[in-house]
Amino acid sequence: MKKIIEVELKTRSAALAECKTQMLAIGHFSDGKKPLPEIIELCKKLGGAIEQVVKLGDFKGKTGTSALIYGNNHIGAQRVLIVGLGEQKEATIDTIRQAAALAANKAVGMKAKTMAVALHRAFGAKFEPGLLAQAMAEGIYYGSFRYDEYITSDEDGRTDSLVVEVIDDNAAKTKQLEDGLFKGAIIGKAQSYARALANRPGNVINPPSLAAEAKKLARNTKGLSCTVLDEKQLAKLGMGGILAVGSGSKTPPRLIIVKYSPKGKASKLPTVAFVGKAITFDSGGISIKPAQNMEQMKLDKTGGITVLAAAKAAAELKLPVNLMAIVPSAENMPSGTSYRPGDIVTTYSGKTVEIQNTDAEGRMILCDALHYAVKQNCDVIIDVATLTGACVVALGTFMAGLMGNNEQLNKDLEEAAKTSGEKVWQLPCGDDYAEEMKSKIADLKNSGGRWGGACTAAAFLRQFVGDKKWAHLDIAGVDCFEKPTASAAEGASAFGVRLLTTYLMNLTGGKKRK
Ligand code: BES
Ligand code: MN
Ligand code: ZN
Repeated sequence: MKKIIEVELKTRSAALAECKTQMLAIGHFSDGKKPLPEIIELCKKLGGAIEQVVKLGDFKGKTGTSALIYGNNHIGAQRVLIVGLGEQKEATIDTIRQAAALAANKAVGMKAKTMAVALHRAFGAKFEPGLLAQAMAEGIYYGSFRYDEYITSDEDGRTDSLVVEVIDDNAAKTKQLEDGLFKGAIIGKAQSYARALANRPGNVINPPSLAAEAKKLARNTKGLSCTVLDEKQLAKLGMGGILAVGSGSKTPPRLIIVKYSPKGKASKLPTVAFVGKAITFDSGGISIKPAQNMEQMKLDKTGGITVLAAAKAAAELKLPVNLMAIVPSAENMPSGTSYRPGDIVTTYSGKTVEIQNTDAEGRMILCDALHYAVKQNCDVIIDVATLTGACVVALGTFMAGLMGNNEQLNKDLEEAAKTSGEKVWQLPCGDDYAEEMKSKIADLKNSGGRWGGACTAAAFLRQFVGDKKWAHLDIAGVDCFEKPTASAAEGASAFGVRLLTTYLMNLTGGKKRK
């Protein structure tokens, strides 16, 4: 089986024109004023080729676009890729992340094994060098990622490694750039880990094999430990929600708990719980889904995988926080042993739920996991789930739905969304919506009326967090790319890995909280 492309990141202080590399990536704002002297130098050596692409209007500097110019014997690079950065005043830290992803995507597409990157130079002093480097590193991992571990033919002959040098002639910035690259590489690797695992199909990843992956992750990552509850232990604890959803499948459900605590200081630090939905395949169960696009439902485990990857990043960054990644996992299948519409399920919290639709299974596994988190005495709970089609209708494929019971927590997540480039939008989940989830014959039902499905689902979850600070991210619309984009291969997006890691970095003093 093919391994994912390995990325190596370094810094180098050199002049652009001298860089020996298979591809040199530079940035260009659409309203760019006078270019940097070293870019002018590069232009000269290229004999006016860069000016020509701009003059002809072939390249306007818009985001998501680029122009390729071939090198000559006056410069060291075989190719120069000019990447559009859009309007200068609109630029955010995500602009450079996306530009770096585009460049890495192109490099892999051209089978380049080496790339030199100077994208950050165009940004001047707008952002700290460390932040720019971190975002570039994240982007480079993102754009170079391919999911092809099951492709046995080698027609394409893709490279298996990409060595990237970040070029700056100001040696005083090197330390900051290196620190940023170090952080960005950790987050980038966590993203790639999540994307590879999430893309694996339902015949490979089921609850027990996902649990084995989590155990392996904990074994291979300093600071992590992993506990797995099997179906017998779930029954003993009374986790009726997880058991009901898993009852139709040959592969039994699991509750996976991955813990991280920094060495020695655990007792003084806050404890955060990330809860992630991991339905390894969602057929809908007895309330079966239509055949069209059902194969996409192998991605119904992305919430769970995101929180595992965030735990990996937190441990490798050695963040001063206690973290618990809690992942309820089941396969939702129709069979003679499945749970049925009309069933009344007693959940871990003791609350009873009337099943109206077996396809509303995410909330049934999450309610047990959320109650488990509450019992663990954590300070904050954030859950991540591909929970509702309604959220996709409301927000499309660009932003995750953010719901919760604490204004400060929502704000902190919005702040993290800004830097991480993983966008969120607040939706309500208050009492009006909770009213919709009341059953006549049980405490709750698992499906509300026709309207506001993302909000009623969140209002259901809210019943299980007591008075804990809680936020819920509905990632149903952002968990994958249906088609390849300028900066990403199609398939799982690992949405939330950057967002959650950034949230933790901000919380633990990386940045002042407002
Ligand atoms: N996993 C789905 C939600 C989903 C839909 C994710 C589309 C990604 C893309 C979830 O389990 C589901 O089936 N939700 C139902 C709930 C309904 C039955 C109340 C839905 O949204 O239709
Ligand atoms: Mn479903
Ligand atoms: Zn689902």
